[in-house]
Amino acid sequence: MTSPRGRDLFRWSAVASFLACYATMMLGGEVLASGSGLGCASWPSCNGSFLPPFAGAAAVEWSHRLGAATLSIFVTVLFVSALLFERRRPTLIRLSSLAFSTVLLEALLGGIVVESRLMVWLVVLHFAIATALLGFLALIVLLGNMPQFPKRWLDWARAASTDQPIPGPSRPAPADPLPGRPTPGDGPWGRPTSPGPGG
Ligand code: HEM
Repeated sequence: MTSPRGRDLFRWSAVASFLACYATMMLGGEVLASGSGLGCASWPSCNGSFLPPFAGAAAVEWSHRLGAATLSIFVTVLFVSALLFERRRPTLIRLSSLAFSTVLLEALLGGIVVESRLMVWLVVLHFAIATALLGFLALIVLLGNMPQFPKRWLDWARAASTDQPIPGPSRPAPADPLPGRPTPGDGPWGRPTSPGPGG
């Protein structure tokens, strides 16, 4: 099934997931830097409650978990909308299923980090997986939205990633002050299209 609305849902859930992942990582950094990792000493509840008093270390750790829950919802929408509406772009289905598995693993690992009383290698693994997830989501945002990008963005990306001059329409040639004289070829960004003397 492909529908423009379904595709929009996919594209926007990719952007929302990326932003939520970024925000959750910042909140995780706040948990780490403020030493609030055991502010909620149980999981999935916070000190035995799903609505803990919003103060101190519990508030910091709970905000991180809320961020993680929001992120998980967005990534679930991303995955389901990929399955439903992106059949013709199978790479996006594969990447979305990778993001979905990674977010589940990361949420589970967050709980294990707490249960382990912040064992160092688990905290490092938690960070490593978060970074990978952000990378997967960035790729999905880029590939999923690429057909909507303005042409000048694509030209810029092509120019930034190649050492060859980019063929394409150049700016309108300026009026020739000496009509009748041959005008030199003017490539994009004012570069000559043909090699000069000596190659
Ligand atoms: C699912 C998305 C999640 C992401 C992207 C994420 C990301 C992060 C990041 C980047 C940090 C800071 C670096 C680090 O200490 O590793 C962090 C810290 C932390 N996260 Fe998460 N996290 C997620 C879910 C969770 C969940 C569900 C829990 C708890 C149930 C959790 C518990 C923690 C704890 C306790 C810390 C602080 C570790 C310490 O103080 O040593 N995280 N998280």
